Amino acid sequence: MRVRTQATPTYWPLMMPLSAWLLLLVGAAPLVSVSVGSRAPNASLPLVLWHGMGDSCCNPLSMGSIKKMVEEDVPGIYVLSLMIGKSVVQDTENGFFMDVNEQVSFACNQLSKDPELQSGYNAMGFSQGGQFLRAVAQRCPSPPMRNLISVGGQQQGVYGLPRCPGESSHICDWIRKMLNSGAYSDFVQKHLVQAQYWHDPLNGDLYKEKSLFLADINQERGINETYKKNLMSLNKFVMVKFLQDSVVDPVDTEWFGFLKPGQAEETETLQDSVIYKEDRLGLAEMDKAGKLVFLATEGDHLQFTRAWFDENLLPYLH
Ligand SMILES: *[C@@H]1O[C@H](CO)[C@@H](O)[C@H](O)[C@H]1NC(C)=O
Ligand SMILES: *[C@@H]1O[C@H](CO)[C@@H](O)[C@H](O)[C@H]1NC(C)=O
Repeated sequence: MRVRTQATPTYWPLMMPLSAWLLLLVGAAPLVSVSVGSRAPNASLPLVLWHGMGDSCCNPLSMGSIKKMVEEDVPGIYVLSLMIGKSVVQDTENGFFMDVNEQVSFACNQLSKDPELQSGYNAMGFSQGGQFLRAVAQRCPSPPMRNLISVGGQQQGVYGLPRCPGESSHICDWIRKMLNSGAYSDFVQKHLVQAQYWHDPLNGDLYKEKSLFLADINQERGINETYKKNLMSLNKFVMVKFLQDSVVDPVDTEWFGFLKPGQAEETETLQDSVIYKEDRLGLAEMDKAGKLVFLATEGDHLQFTRAWFDENLLPYLH
């Protein structure tokens, strides 16, 4: 899902035409002044971005504008916006159809080869990019990730797809059909990204057995001590929840909460969940050590202002 930043605190509908966004961004840019230097010294670590569904590494209206904004805020910072595949078109398609475990390997390979990142980096994932980068943290400790920032990420998956990014409604209708007809069939698992973080609380055993990606990184089939150790070596794990999110269901997943097992109405927080109580992933220990940061902001999915970003997320980019 696409990120949209604005310079004013007014929230804009997701379906706003691209031309209007362009006008908004271009028109608003000169009005924004950010004091640099005090909060973010030049010794800032590089930043790695992973875009959301329907988006790409390099869209000037989403990841491109985030990259530019961070580069303005932190002069000299190296920002890498991950491209999964060989082109922007492939990158966008892969966000729907490429096996997530392969996407994570692809990203890890890119990070391990980038000379700029070898002393470590911070990572910021938007929407599904949030859980994908967590998999990078758990599976690929080198180069080391320092802070992980999940912006509207679905850390416990989703159980519903109420709305979709505007430009791809036909793809979304098809995805919904696939998810409803059998998210855990081998074929759908292998070929549909969103099925790999589909979390059906009414079919918990099936989810644990069949989910190729999410059940693995959330230690549902067993505990991989390496995952735990790697995640716990983060300095901070920041999770941003959008209070009026109409795209992610349930929104609790953005703070690692979810629906209580066995039913689909009541939700539970991370702290009430089995993954935390049994500390299957090290999150309880991280919480006690002050490494988990829960941020909430007004607005629909991925909609925030530059002022909010600068005040709340910039401090984690050092
Ligand atoms: C940049 O960092 C170096 C070393 O940490 C320091 O000596 C220098 O003064 C810094 N420059 C600015 C402009 O902050
Ligand atoms: C645990 O995770 C590491 C890192 O991805 C992997 O190399 C290893 O094979 C996993 N172990 C098991 C038992 O799955």
